[in-house]
Amino acid sequence: MVVDNAAVNYTIRDGVAVITLNNPPVNGLGLSTRTGIVEGLARANSDAAVTAIVITGAGKAFSGGADITEFNTPKATQEPTLHTVIKEVEKSVKPVVAAIHSVAMGGGLELALGAHYRVAAPGAQIALPEVKLGILPGAGGTQRLPRAIGLEPALNMIVSGAPVPSEKLAKSGLFDAMIEGDLLTEAVAFARKAADKQGPHPLVRNRKIEHANAEGFLQFSRNTVGAMSKNYPAPVKCIDAIAAGVKEGFEKGLAFERDCFVELVQTPESRALRHAFFGERAASKIPDVPSSTPVRDIQKVAVIGAGTMGGGITMNFLNAGVPVTLLETKQEALDRGLATIRKNYEAQVKKGKLTQEKAEARMALISPTLSYDDLKQADLIIEAVFEELGVKEQVFKRLDEVAKQGAILASNTSTLDVDKIAAFTKRPQDVVGLHFFSPANVMKLLEVVRGKDTAKDVLATVMQVAKKIRKTAVVSGVCDGFIGNRMIEQYVRQALYMLEEGALPAQVDRAIEKFGFAMGPFRMSDLAGNDIGWAIRKRRYQEKPDLKYSKIADRLCETGRFGQKTGAGWYDYKAGERNALPSKLVDDMIVAYSKEAGVERRKISDDEIVERLVFALVNEGAKILEEGIASKASDIDMVYLTGYGFPLWRGGPMLYADTVGLYNVARSIRRYAAQPNGDAWEIAQSLADKADNGGTFN
Ligand code: 3HC
Ligand code: NAI
Repeated sequence: MVVDNAAVNYTIRDGVAVITLNNPPVNGLGLSTRTGIVEGLARANSDAAVTAIVITGAGKAFSGGADITEFNTPKATQEPTLHTVIKEVEKSVKPVVAAIHSVAMGGGLELALGAHYRVAAPGAQIALPEVKLGILPGAGGTQRLPRAIGLEPALNMIVSGAPVPSEKLAKSGLFDAMIEGDLLTEAVAFARKAADKQGPHPLVRNRKIEHANAEGFLQFSRNTVGAMSKNYPAPVKCIDAIAAGVKEGFEKGLAFERDCFVELVQTPESRALRHAFFGERAASKIPDVPSSTPVRDIQKVAVIGAGTMGGGITMNFLNAGVPVTLLETKQEALDRGLATIRKNYEAQVKKGKLTQEKAEARMALISPTLSYDDLKQADLIIEAVFEELGVKEQVFKRLDEVAKQGAILASNTSTLDVDKIAAFTKRPQDVVGLHFFSPANVMKLLEVVRGKDTAKDVLATVMQVAKKIRKTAVVSGVCDGFIGNRMIEQYVRQALYMLEEGALPAQVDRAIEKFGFAMGPFRMSDLAGNDIGWAIRKRRYQEKPDLKYSKIADRLCETGRFGQKTGAGWYDYKAGERNALPSKLVDDMIVAYSKEAGVERRKISDDEIVERLVFALVNEGAKILEEGIASKASDIDMVYLTGYGFPLWRGGPMLYADTVGLYNVARSIRRYAAQPNGDAWEIAQSLADKADNGGTFN
């Protein structure tokens, strides 16, 4: 017999009712799924031919938890809520067995914890990942998991949100049986046996939390977790909720957990984390490239240039088990590149992050070469040679001669025009930009630069490749600096203007780091090398002679202070150390520069620093959206969260602007536009319009 609610299937097998969650992609517990479970339970309990009930999930999950898309919508609180569903499970007279496979996360695990029995297939990911969304388990997870597996392991799982493989939990008290064979067949057999037992059937809520010194442990956890998660309210709330259950019992703990959930789901931090979760997934979808677009088979990769970027790019593929042919012009350069890759792996071995054996296996996947003939078999070729159009031209013309038909030809250029590069070949449809960030083996971000002729299947393929090498790929149109660097240029421009007007590097860095950036612009520049920005500015002076820039950074570079690599930059550095020490010499130089430029220095507040830096990003981001360089605001946020150290709990510049309110953002921009150096503040039309209409970017 089959009775279907859209999101739940109900069948009967050997006298056991099987309630199968069927809400792709991950059986999220949305309203229709919850309703279906409750209906299934009622049906099974009123059918005399049914002796027991199994709840399981169709497809690739038992359940990924509450449906996050319903948060802050009426459906989230509409009955039956997940609390009600779990109560119905607990109240079932006939035993309920949760048959877990693949994924049991969040509300999915909480549902299973309400069941009388749990059986699991090995390899399932078990987690309460709610903290990662800025909330806490809100359907009894903080109460039942400690009762199921013990206080300490449960607290670790809840506070970290990290998944644990089911087999590691085999003896934890969570599962009544691990099932190696066919999960459903054996779950049904288990349920039939359970039905033979006298009721009432066991409930996790009735178990005791045993711990020699629960209070001490909870206090210790609160201190350590509190210190580690300063900007995130959820982790400490998780501990508070667990503590409430330990101290005051299950029901009071449950009520407290519920209150905390309602409070946390409204916080800007949770909104930001959920935005990042969906933003990451949304970034992989390109509006005019449907998911049905065929992809090219990528088995063999080649990288040209074994320098800073080429080496890091190569490592990404080695780490994913993909062989790489690495090409250089000279043996010495090749040897140097290989040695750097080896050194990086050895550092990981030393830290215990990688075994020597694995490091060797990865190195063995590299085929070093000096000959383009060895690139003939490559499916994807990524160029990371010097940033000069002439050199790129040589390389792409040569690639056009040797690469096989259908090979994807990618450039890692950070500033050059990908369309021009594509035009060096007779196959511009196969050319794409793959802009990795340094260090390329570490940084999550990959800007995929879509040329005017780039074929859709090339885009679909590189997005899939990005997933394989665990990058967050964001598509950018062709423009100077693409999404990330084009925006950062306006941010740096503001930083330099503020030095001229009255701030000093340490104040600017401190203010923006307090806002949450990993590193302020001057510490960052000292790390990356001040000469890089200098080279770009020199090019700008040629290309855009009208663009106004503070020349203060050029002055610094003229004295050879290129940053950490020369032992001096915006800051002083002691030999062998990376601590940025404010430099009297530089500060005096800045003050002298202001005087020379006829600027009367004034005190600039930290608020102004933050506004000018962040709103410069926002304004340029709005222009990038208007021009279609980015297809959605969340793409811009993903670039900043994964590549530029923007604080995650603020959700990226565009979400932050929405949070501040675009009316307020526009007002500030107009105010700065009226100040000296206001020429940098031409407000984006779309931002002005949204500010007028009460609109938002997201
Ligand atoms: N609700 C709604 N949609 C969800 C979802 C959820 N809980 N979890 C995943 N999805 C969607 C994704 O948005 C994505 O949609 P798309 O295809 O339209 O982009 C799709 O499912 C597939 O997701 P992934 O690309 O991440 O697929 P993977 O196979 O790589 O990973 C997963 C699957 C491990 C389940 C991963 O998606 C994940 O970690 N999801 C989040 C799980 C989570 O945080 N659950 C807790 C929810 S909050 C909760 O339960 C509150 C409760 O305590 C009351
Ligand atoms: P690099 O100078 O460290 O390495 C370039 C390598 O290319 C050198 O080893 C050189 O020998 C080799 N090379 C030069 N011409 C060649 C040719 N014709 N054939 C084969 N190899 C050749 O430079 P880096 O920093 O790795 O930059 C490479 C590219 O990556 C540039 O386009 C740069 O703009 C881009 N990029 C750099 C980033 C960075 O932070 N360094 C970040 C993102 C992109």
